[in-house]
Amino acid sequence: MKVSVIGAGNVGATCAQVVAQKNIVNEVVLVDIKEGLSEGKSLDLWQTAPVNYYDTRLTGSTNDYSKTEGSDVVVITSGVPRKPGMSRDDLISINAGIVKSVTENVVKFSPGAKIIIVSNPLDVMTYAAYVTSRKPKNEVMGMAGILDTARYRAFLAEALDVSPRDIQALLMGGHGDTMVPLPRYTTVAGIPVTELIGSEKLDAIIERTKKGGGELVNLMGTSAWYAPGSAAAQMVEAIVMDQKRIFPCCIKLEGEYGLNDMFVGVPVKLGKNGVEKVIEVSLNESEKEMLNSSANAVKKVMEVLDGMKIL
Ligand code: NAI
Ligand code: 2OP
Repeated sequence: MKVSVIGAGNVGATCAQVVAQKNIVNEVVLVDIKEGLSEGKSLDLWQTAPVNYYDTRLTGSTNDYSKTEGSDVVVITSGVPRKPGMSRDDLISINAGIVKSVTENVVKFSPGAKIIIVSNPLDVMTYAAYVTSRKPKNEVMGMAGILDTARYRAFLAEALDVSPRDIQALLMGGHGDTMVPLPRYTTVAGIPVTELIGSEKLDAIIERTKKGGGELVNLMGTSAWYAPGSAAAQMVEAIVMDQKRIFPCCIKLEGEYGLNDMFVGVPVKLGKNGVEKVIEVSLNESEKEMLNSSANAVKKVMEVLDGMKIL
């Protein structure tokens, strides 16, 4: 199995590292536009193999996509990260151009690859990659829901003083402040979370989750990478190992949840064919309203991108 990660910056390099350490693929290829960056990072990572006991070969290439040929999965992280004061949507024109050209190169050398987008604004970049790639909708997906759910689960684990492993949660919608964490679908070892935490505390956690990306940008001056890189690696693992795991991922919706031609996060089954099933859970009126308003926020940015005539 071969995985390529485009963009050897913070998120891409972390994703490559986590995938390699899982020892689930033969080869990871890092590609970046910056001369020497991916070669250097992949060499550094490869030198961790004897220490961390894995066999995955890591190589790097400066913009030579022939090195990615025959990839089973490609993760696209290339782009500009959010800086303080910059919204995800500010990134749209720069990153859409990058995602478009990268996707064209990826598809040329790996027509069968499953593509995972990480670049922001996530839902709209997933749309950009889908349109550019002309691939079936099950083969192009965006990573955000695993990250946002991880933040929600981590905050809950801290508040409840329990292991984050025991927290199962569902979060839907776009990767932005309108995302929709769903307390009705959140449990702690099977116990509904509402049995264990008061509504005020839970609401505060939900608000913190929605602004989780911004909290890290304010602390570090750039956006997060450890959790995003690990989350993308978890999607890679589910696909290459055909795990049939259920994760919230951004995909093209065609009528599911009453949404059409829309790219937002919903629970899906991930396996060797990419997105193998969209899981439709029942939503109450207020949850539906929140999902619709999140989808509308994404739609507005899709329209902005359409207006730019980049795709
Ligand atoms: P970074 O700046 O550390 O890395 C980006 C890399 O992309 C750089 O090394 C740059 O040289 C490279 N690049 C730019 N244009 C390229 C091109 N045409 N071809 C190949 N490589 C190119 O940024 P970081 O922190 O790794 O973030 C990457 C992207 O992921 C950003 O758009 C960021 O907003 C997004 N992100 C998304 C998350 C999500 O949940 N979906 C979470 C965290 C970040
Ligand atoms: C994050 O959520 C900024 O999308 C990036 O960390």
